[in-house]
Amino acid sequence: MPITNGDAMNEPTSTKALDCSAAMDVLAQYPDRDGIDVQTLLDSKNHGGLTYNDFLVLPGYIGFPASEVSMETPVTKRISLKTPFLSSPMDTVTEHSMAIYMALLGGLGVIHHNCSAEDQAEMVRKVKRYENGFILDPVVISPRTTVGEAKQLKEKWGFGGFPVTENGTLRSKLVGIVTSRDIQFHADLDDPVTSVMSVDLVTARTGITLQDANGILSKSKKGKLPIVDEGGNLVSLLSRSDLMKNLHYPLASKLPHSKQLISAAAIGTRPEDKARLQKLVDAGLDIVILDSSQGNSVFQIEMIKHIKERYPELDVIGGNVVTREQAAALIAAGVDGLRIGMGSGSACITQEVMAVGRPQAASVYNVASFAAKFGVPCIADGGIQNVGHIVKGLALGATTVMMGGLLAGTTESPGQYFVSREGQLVKAYRGMGSIDAMEDKKAGAGSKNSKASNAGTARYFSEGDRLLVAQGVSGSVLDRGSVTKFIPYLMAGVQHSLQDIGVKSLHELRQNVVHGKVRFELRTVSAQAEGNVHGLHSFDKKLYS
Ligand code: IMP
Repeated sequence: MPITNGDAMNEPTSTKALDCSAAMDVLAQYPDRDGIDVQTLLDSKNHGGLTYNDFLVLPGYIGFPASEVSMETPVTKRISLKTPFLSSPMDTVTEHSMAIYMALLGGLGVIHHNCSAEDQAEMVRKVKRYENGFILDPVVISPRTTVGEAKQLKEKWGFGGFPVTENGTLRSKLVGIVTSRDIQFHADLDDPVTSVMSVDLVTARTGITLQDANGILSKSKKGKLPIVDEGGNLVSLLSRSDLMKNLHYPLASKLPHSKQLISAAAIGTRPEDKARLQKLVDAGLDIVILDSSQGNSVFQIEMIKHIKERYPELDVIGGNVVTREQAAALIAAGVDGLRIGMGSGSACITQEVMAVGRPQAASVYNVASFAAKFGVPCIADGGIQNVGHIVKGLALGATTVMMGGLLAGTTESPGQYFVSREGQLVKAYRGMGSIDAMEDKKAGAGSKNSKASNAGTARYFSEGDRLLVAQGVSGSVLDRGSVTKFIPYLMAGVQHSLQDIGVKSLHELRQNVVHGKVRFELRTVSAQAEGNVHGLHSFDKKLYS
């Protein structure tokens, strides 16, 4: 007769202990595994909608090294990535620099649309034209630039090696280079840079491989290696400070048979977004995300149909959605992927203001389990504060996760660092539904970094109204260093977590959750307190080194 949990608990303490070697056989007699399955966990009739902090995953069996855990995962029906990390289409998170590095590191950066269509298309072009290591849009100055102006440029950009060309533009004849040292102690600010620039240049010809160019740069002992065409015109630049970053990106997100990085960008669902999309497609866009806080609308369904008919090669991700009903409408319209989340973002006040939304764990599970029936991959978007949240989103069925606030403090996000009132190094981060962001959009100011000449497009339906109703806030986030360190940390963290759970890939994680092999447990409020640092007088929370 099988043992029930109740029998085991009622076992009299005086009973003779069983033979230890039979432990696995005795375990096999229990009717169920320890913990609960995902359906029971997420059954909202029992306890309301859950968030990531409301539960834990129970550990499994470790029989392999963490480094063997595969992170490969689909982001759309046709496109897979080597890591499940996406950066949000927000003007304080993803412009071309973030998009390039996210793709190099195996993820994807989705370029925001709070700028003119031309600026957004130019950013897509930069991602597509990016060649590992070569700076394709260096800051170039002309022989008439003064030393004072060069100093100001150094302040603005945070670096000081500027190529000087005849016209002061790229693809014009290279005449010299001005370095920080050349201008540092030069007192006469009105002198032209030609009086201080170096003219004994070491250059390389366009077409050179990164490896060879790095070799020349290392030997030359110079800070920069200009790449020129046969006429001596400047084409791109290699920087010594980037040498380490340039070496190797084995996980880089590329389509099969392509050397170019995958590019993704967001648009709205208004009629004018069709013209914007045409510009993005002309620039080489691979994936478009329809950016709406409530994606189940006539506008979005019409836009999906338009895109599928007009651009069959382009993958389209719809959203945002948090219910099966919303998801079904967009799946039927033809999306290649879905983005899940409403009100869970760190800079978001949607749930408070609109009384609409859903706790993120409940959203991810309900939408992703439904979408999986149709082979539609899902992004868990918003509310990711740590590695554990990423793993939970993936365990509940999302194939990728999207982060805004977590990446906004990195070097690759738009904008400059500044010192907060408390003396900490921070960067601005704002919700795209904050009054700040919506007013900029209306005024056509665009993002903090780009020189947008006309307005971006709408994610919140209120944006067209005279009275703006905020669904987000603007604030700041702490400096997190470069994504070239932070994303590998997130990846290693997820690999170790999956090792603890006892699965060797994200695919196996999803399968084992569906089949009830991966088990969960609800967390009481005191369990949550126990699971965090407690009882210490003070501590430092350094996450990686
Ligand atoms: P985070 O990673 O928790 O900071 O959330 C980022 C996500 O928040 C984005 O990808 C958007 O889906 C969402 N979001 C961005 N701006 C707003 C806003 O103003 N209100 C509500 N949600 C927002």
